[in-house]
Amino acid sequence: MELKKEYSTSWLHHISQEDGIERVESGNTTLTLLASKNGTEIIHHRLSKGKSWALAPLEGWDELEFVHLLSGRLHYKLGDAEGILEPGESLSAEPVQDCIIFTADEDSTFIYVCSNYVFHQYSEITRKFNHLAVEIAEKDGYTASHCERIKTHSLEIGRRMSLNNNELMSLSFGAFFHDIGKLNIPDEILLKPSRLNDEEFSIIRMHTTFGKEILASTGVPHLIEAGVIAEQHHERFDGSGYPHGLMGNQIDVGASIVAVVDSYDAMTSNRPYQRAKSKDQAICEIRELRGTAYHPDVVDTFLSLVDTFQDI
Ligand SMILES: [Fe+2]
Repeated sequence: MELKKEYSTSWLHHISQEDGIERVESGNTTLTLLASKNGTEIIHHRLSKGKSWALAPLEGWDELEFVHLLSGRLHYKLGDAEGILEPGESLSAEPVQDCIIFTADEDSTFIYVCSNYVFHQYSEITRKFNHLAVEIAEKDGYTASHCERIKTHSLEIGRRMSLNNNELMSLSFGAFFHDIGKLNIPDEILLKPSRLNDEEFSIIRMHTTFGKEILASTGVPHLIEAGVIAEQHHERFDGSGYPHGLMGNQIDVGASIVAVVDSYDAMTSNRPYQRAKSKDQAICEIRELRGTAYHPDVVDTFLSLVDTFQDI
């Protein structure tokens, strides 16, 4: 694959937005379809500071892809190669064979050109993603903010552990939707203010398997791949977890990361049946469970980063 970074003058100034233009908004991202003809699409993309976007080709992908930064600052990562795009700079690849991850160092806008009809694919993925996110937020208000924290902190650990771009993509979706299976758990059990009995707890445990099934039902490849994290985030390094009792490196690395971040978040949050522990107490507990409940490498990385975690 040829990856080219080049500087060009501001040839995009002639493009103006018109009424009736197609637009997809998803929290911190807005995609606007500026032009689409003869199999080529030009998309205006806005990405908020700290958020990521990925070019992730599917099997058999053979398209030209071109990104031109208008404002802000984008950090990109392709395999071991990393770089920065400043306004006026472009990145092009033909074809993109590996996932490229862009992260906005500042609020950024850029033009994305692809020699294929990708906008409606994006619309569909975003629509399904938003639908699930809204559903989980309506189910349980705590869970909604919890999802965003788990995603952000899991990605920080994943990057530090040098996960590859495809693993980071799965981690991003898997961490956000790790508890999506709770949609299938009755409210009277999920929101019960007192301790659960054995039968209720066995129903709660099913949210892992339900999560994998719900993500598979979207038909979106990256969400389907993330299903393993939803399924395995309660597995434990010593085999004491559920649903399968997997051990050590049998457990997906993304799921091992989410296990630590999820436990830490649960310990430090007030829940109907439990008062929050202090951050120090929670960190102590995670440290004590290094190599038993939690993967030692993940715990070491977590401990090296936890002081930098921002409240979300
Ligand atoms: Fe869970």
